[in-house]
Amino acid sequence: MRTLTGIQPTGTLHIGNYFGAMRPAIEAQDHGECFYFIADYHSMTALFDPAARLRNTADAALDWLACGLDPKRAVFWRQSDIPEVTELTWILGTLVPMGLLERATTYKDKLANGIAPNFGIFAYPVLMAADILLYDTNVVPVGADQKQHLEMTRDMAIKFNQAYGETLVVPEPRIRGEGAAVPGLDGRKMSKSYGNTLEIFGDEKALRKRVMGIVMDSRTPQEPKPDAEKNIAIQLLRLLATPDVASDFENRLRAGGLGYGDLKKALFEHYWNYFAAARVRRAELAANPDHVESVLREGAERARAVASQVLKRARRAGGLQR
Ligand code: ADP
Ligand code: TRP
Repeated sequence: MRTLTGIQPTGTLHIGNYFGAMRPAIEAQDHGECFYFIADYHSMTALFDPAARLRNTADAALDWLACGLDPKRAVFWRQSDIPEVTELTWILGTLVPMGLLERATTYKDKLANGIAPNFGIFAYPVLMAADILLYDTNVVPVGADQKQHLEMTRDMAIKFNQAYGETLVVPEPRIRGEGAAVPGLDGRKMSKSYGNTLEIFGDEKALRKRVMGIVMDSRTPQEPKPDAEKNIAIQLLRLLATPDVASDFENRLRAGGLGYGDLKKALFEHYWNYFAAARVRRAELAANPDHVESVLREGAERARAVASQVLKRARRAGGLQR
């Protein structure tokens, strides 16, 4: 079974991204084959600064490798190192109805937000389908916002197979539950668009300040807090500390006697320790960009071994070669 997902190189990652997307992807490395790539072609639909693209791509590689993506167990590459994906994009584009692309919510949202759409934005779901279908992917773990793109991918694979004979593997989506969203520092879902994030990597002093700045209520430390399980710090400790430690803090908060300042201090320490090893690994990797580059290149070679076979099948089926 092959699992594939694309990673958007969009800057600073937060612990919501970590627990929601990265950790499950890293754990999946022990189950079946994992194919993970940095979607730098996709980033061209919205970012026009080449230096920023290189930096974001390098940062995404560092973040994922530091957090435990293991290039021995997973195939990890940069999307644009396999330009074959653009050929499959063209082939699929000839089969996908305009109406289907016009109904994509991601496209409609951009129009509604006044973004002048380029062809890339319109074709985004076709490139994404090519990403998936080029590698005979079985399962695609994505956030709920990508569900429709997955349906479109399945649609394109089925259309291709109907037009040209059984050629492409029709993938299954695995949608990550929204219910399990990591709360942000203001209690809403953690998201970079709400400015309520806790970054995975960053400056200790600034991050401590962010944690100590979490707004709670005005109840005194002594007051019992029957709603202790709803407290943001307790919810985050559930992710960052052992179950015993998190329960202990929750019980002390519920009983009264634990002040919010002390609770936030404890939260910061657990958060800082949780990512300590990743932080060290990231610094080591950042000091060795040639190594990171060679990891991505080796990943691209392994990815290409699959991609070239699948593309050949598609070209033959479509009458582009014998
Ligand atoms: P943001 O909401 O900060 O813009 P993205 O949309 O870039 O985050 O998220 C990338 C992935 O990280 C999403 O597909 C989603 O699965 C996961 N993710 C983001 N925020 C959270 C969260 N608060 N809780 C759980 N998972 C999250
Ligand atoms: N569009 C996806 C996102 O915004 C990223 C992505 C690109 C992707 N290609 C993919 C995800 C292929 C899964 C499979 O998160």
